[in-house]
Amino acid sequence: MSTIYIDEATGSDTSGTGTQLTPYQTLGHALYANAASSDGVKYLIRKDATAEYDEPTQSALKKAKKTADGLEKKKKKAEELAEKEAKEKAELREKREKLLEESKKIVLEEDQTLPKPPRAKTSQLVEHRGQRVRVFGWVHRLRDQKGIIFIVLRDGTGYLQSVLSGRVAQTYEALTLTIESTVELVGTLQPVPDGKTAPGGHELIVDYWRVIGAAPGADDAFTNRLNEKSDPSIQADLRHLVLRGENASGVLRLRSYLLSAFREALISHNLLEVTPPCLVQTQVEGGATLFKLDYYGQPTFLTQSSQLYLETCLPSLGDVFCVQESFRAENSHTRRHLSEYTHLEAELAFINFNELMTHIEDIICETVDILLTNPTTAALIKALNPSFEPPTRPFTRISYVDAINWLNEHGIKHPEEDADGNPVKDETGQVKMVEHKVGDDIAEAAERQMTDIIGKPVFLYGFPAELKAFYMQRMPKKEGDSMTYTESCDLLMPNVGEIVGGSMRISDEEELLAAYKKEGIDSAPYYWYTDQRKYGTTEHGGYGLGVERFLAWLANRYTVRECSLYPRWPGRATP
Ligand code: 4AD
Repeated sequence: MSTIYIDEATGSDTSGTGTQLTPYQTLGHALYANAASSDGVKYLIRKDATAEYDEPTQSALKKAKKTADGLEKKKKKAEELAEKEAKEKAELREKREKLLEESKKIVLEEDQTLPKPPRAKTSQLVEHRGQRVRVFGWVHRLRDQKGIIFIVLRDGTGYLQSVLSGRVAQTYEALTLTIESTVELVGTLQPVPDGKTAPGGHELIVDYWRVIGAAPGADDAFTNRLNEKSDPSIQADLRHLVLRGENASGVLRLRSYLLSAFREALISHNLLEVTPPCLVQTQVEGGATLFKLDYYGQPTFLTQSSQLYLETCLPSLGDVFCVQESFRAENSHTRRHLSEYTHLEAELAFINFNELMTHIEDIICETVDILLTNPTTAALIKALNPSFEPPTRPFTRISYVDAINWLNEHGIKHPEEDADGNPVKDETGQVKMVEHKVGDDIAEAAERQMTDIIGKPVFLYGFPAELKAFYMQRMPKKEGDSMTYTESCDLLMPNVGEIVGGSMRISDEEELLAAYKKEGIDSAPYYWYTDQRKYGTTEHGGYGLGVERFLAWLANRYTVRECSLYPRWPGRATP
């Protein structure tokens, strides 16, 4: 005879086995679990570890028997239910297999007696209303409603609701269709019924269609690989799939229109587009952010800015601009830094500093106007950034010194740094915040607070020479000036901060040679840049605009990473 132990305090009905080491918790469960061998079993029960194990009373046994019977009944019911469900599932599977088998017999053929449908993109369909058309694209959304299949087709230019019914919805391809498959659809374009909505206000009533490339279903289905809840690092790895989403593709579509609009505005100001090299042997914005590489045994860099090359174009082509990738080896993981970004830069000759700032303002406002005048881009901006308002002119201009005072008046402080640039902590371990003083760099956090309070574009100008690049034109020193300031400007936008950095350039050869020296730059590799001051120099200036930052402002994106096709940031160069 075996003995079964029950400890009402520490035992367990789920993990217990009835031994003295792992007792059950209730007598009812013990009886239920040992029903098969009830005759040869002795039960011992105790309240808790302080009590002795004893045989249960008759009345306790009677009560426990009832519980055991209940449990047995419950188990039987569950088994019956599972069996029923399995049967139903098998029936459904069989029915589906039969349906699939039947569906193979339905072969759709394009009716050649009907007028030949023209091929159209989904964005051009309004002119085809009431006609048969042929469209190609990806299955963006898919819904089967009582045998009628609704597809939202995506072809890159837009979306089209398409309806498959009757035989058209009964083919094998129809029954096994998956999201992201490529399809060809032929049908008649009709306005959507009253009270219903669809992209463009119409839908395609399909009479012939075929699958071009089926996307997998089940475990490997698109929505199993990527969905809104996917971890950010998975989303980054699957950027190529993220791009198919409505938001990501909307931002990139706007980016394309934005670049065209910038070009239109710049060309209308008589600037010519040039394409400078990416592989360079000179620095522009300081050695700390250069990506170095070995170029046939010579040290070479990925360009930080095409500015120096644009300057050489002035005597040849007049005012110029470029749209070029720039590279910055900054270990910044902020929402406005990329390791590679699209840099729109321009350079203008025979202008002064005021004219430079006015030109930047012109280009930005005219570009926004071009986008808002076009109904397609205006709608895109509205969809991505419903509360977008074009900036009002003129942009506020605040000198660097006034900005320092403004920050202090508004109680915006910055972390105190030691000689090595590390933040200083107070006795409680908190980072010590101190007031700004003339000569301090205005850090990203303070700059952001400032633009957010002001709430519109602001030019900060006249930064100290110590804080800026070697090539910047110095302002004449005024009485009482403690330091030398430059003819430099940053354009700050709400939510993003700095989107443009520009300046007048040193135009005097001797002054430039002194500037190289002060910065510890060997002038030899810059011979071609220096020559510009030798062979007919002039006052000139230019600027660089971060396209992703501008787009983040325009489309109200949280980070510049959303505004780049395949963003690169420290540690990320995939896909
Ligand atoms: O202020 P920056 O460094 O200026 C220059 O490179 C000048 N040589 C440009 C010129 O005068 N031709 O950079 C210009 C702009 C910034 O205002 C910012 O919008 C963008 O380039 N930018 C970045 N964007 C994304 N990620 C980064 N790491 C960026 N660094 C600069």
